[in-house]
Amino acid sequence: MSSHQDNNHPAKITKAVFPVGGLGTRFLPATKSMPKELMPIIDKPLIQYAVEEALAVGIETLIFVTSASKHAIFDHFDPMPSLKMRFEQQGRMDLVEKVNILSPDIKTVYIPQGEPLGLGHAVLQAQSLIGVNEMFTVLLADDFIEAPQNPLLALIECARVTGQTTLSVEQVPAERISSYGIVSPKQWHQGTAEIDAIVEKPHKDEAPSDFGVIGRYVLPARIFEVLKATPADGKGEIQLTDAIKTLLQQEGVHAVQLDGQRFDCGHHEGFVMANLHVAMKDPQLRTKISNYLNDQG
Ligand code: G1P
Repeated sequence: MSSHQDNNHPAKITKAVFPVGGLGTRFLPATKSMPKELMPIIDKPLIQYAVEEALAVGIETLIFVTSASKHAIFDHFDPMPSLKMRFEQQGRMDLVEKVNILSPDIKTVYIPQGEPLGLGHAVLQAQSLIGVNEMFTVLLADDFIEAPQNPLLALIECARVTGQTTLSVEQVPAERISSYGIVSPKQWHQGTAEIDAIVEKPHKDEAPSDFGVIGRYVLPARIFEVLKATPADGKGEIQLTDAIKTLLQQEGVHAVQLDGQRFDCGHHEGFVMANLHVAMKDPQLRTKISNYLNDQG
């Protein structure tokens, strides 16, 4: 792995950015008034899974890049003391635990994106909260991940050693290549590789490989200046992938293969599968679902 000299062994990564300003058009009408990030896998919203993943690796500041119609995300993470007290008075400690999502020492920041001008534009809104030599993580709540080990751990380790951009990737089927950022890994070494190309949503015949970027990134603050200079694409959006491509001309970028299962909950299929996957882990639900499916033939 090559390292960025000035930023080798950066300080601990303590900030996570959650771009939640998207419109969620694929899930209309459900997302007409409800943020897509609050869609639940059984009983827990996608955004909470992503937040818990970040908290588990020591993230202390949660930065939500949001839009006007997403107040419900703020409400979801609000401590709501009156609700808590009510459950406490009823002796329902199980419910207290369920609504007690963030410990008081976790800082939450909500930044309006203004207009939904793409993932790169969303990430750029967090600039004022990130130090110039700091690295931070970005999590896309759409990507629901089930893995034996928290997927951020391997990303953060690689970023800590190299001081450079690190992306989570997995092999994707040919028909899904045009839905993701696709990288070209050089030499894999224990699931990690430097990449020599990245392209946003290529046609499958033009893709440099079948390794697709999953919504987990560790980025250096240097990305902000690059994002500012990144032109909008054909849809008028500033793509994070395009900024990473520019950064790649100046320094190393690394891919870490996901050791686990990712469900792309930005699509109906992935969302239903994620719900089924979690439901099937509950012995009672498993039996009922299996019986139901058997009855369907
Ligand atoms: C975004 C990124 C894409 C990445 C994907 C992961 O696309 O632009 O590079 O592969 O997230 O989920 P979106 O899902 O917002 O279309």
